[in-house]
Amino acid sequence: MTHQTDPLPDLADLLRFYAEAGVDDAIGEEPVDRFAETAAQPAPAPARRPETVARQEAAAPPPTLPALAVPDEAQAAKAREMAREARTLDELREMLERFDGCNLKLTAKQTAFSDGNPQAPLMLVGEAPGRDEDTAGKPFVGRSGQLLDRMLSAIGIARADGAYIANVIPWRPPGNRTPTPLETEICRPFIERQIELANPKVLVTLGGPSAKVLLHATDGVLKLRGKWRTHVTASGVEIPTMPTLHPAYLLRNPAHKKLAWRDFLEVAAKLDAVSG
Ligand code: URA
Repeated sequence: MTHQTDPLPDLADLLRFYAEAGVDDAIGEEPVDRFAETAAQPAPAPARRPETVARQEAAAPPPTLPALAVPDEAQAAKAREMAREARTLDELREMLERFDGCNLKLTAKQTAFSDGNPQAPLMLVGEAPGRDEDTAGKPFVGRSGQLLDRMLSAIGIARADGAYIANVIPWRPPGNRTPTPLETEICRPFIERQIELANPKVLVTLGGPSAKVLLHATDGVLKLRGKWRTHVTASGVEIPTMPTLHPAYLLRNPAHKKLAWRDFLEVAAKLDAVSG
C-alpha cells in the first residue's frame, strides 16, 4: 500500500488564508526564527514552592498592561459628551486623537479623520478605513478611493477642493472586519458632529452601513440608493442626503456602476440647485 502525503499548500492560498484571518500586515522587516530563539533559551528554572512564589509576587511591582478599552455604553455616553464640546473640526480631530474609549483605536495605526476640503458643499461618508487608509491616515486612498475619485471627476468634482470625505468609523477594524454595533455607537457622535461642523449642502452616504447610521435606515442599500433622504443634525439642520453604493462594492460588481452613476448625476443636479 502506498502512503500519499498532502502536497504543500500553494503559497498564494496560504497568503489568502492569512489575509482572511486578519493577518495582513508584516510587523517586522525581517522574518524571525522563533524556533531558534526557543532553542537558545536557558533551561527552565526548577519549580518554586508556592509560598516562595507568593512572597516574590507580593514584592514585585505588577506588570504594566496596555489599558484595554471595552466598548460599552459608558464609552458611548462619553463619546456623545465629548463630541458635543468640539467647536471646530480641528478640535474634533484632536478629541478623537485623545479619545481612548474605542478598542479599534488600539489596533489601528492612526486615525483616518478626513480628506478633501472641509468647506466644500459636498460631503461623502464611508464605513471605515481599510489597510491603505490606516497607513495614510486618510479615508478613501486605496482602490475604492481611486474609483471614488473617478466617479467624482465624472461629475466635474475634484476631491482636493470640491469634496470633504470621512468615515463613520475613523479607525481600521482589524483585518477589515465589520465593526460591532457598539463600536459603531461609540463612533456615531463623532461623525455626526463632524457633519454638523462641516455643514455641507449635500451629503452622500457610501454603502449600507453609512446609510444606516446617518439616516437611521433599516433597508438594504440597494433599496435605499437613488432616493433623496434627509440627515438631521443635532441642532436640527436638514441636509439632503443621497445614499449610494460603496465603491468597494462597485469594484466587485461593476455591472452596478450604472446605478451609482445615476446617483451621482442626481448629486450634481442637487449641488447646482442649492448653489445656484
Ligand atoms: N472603505 C471605506 O468605507 N472607507 C475608506 O476610507 C476606505 C474603504
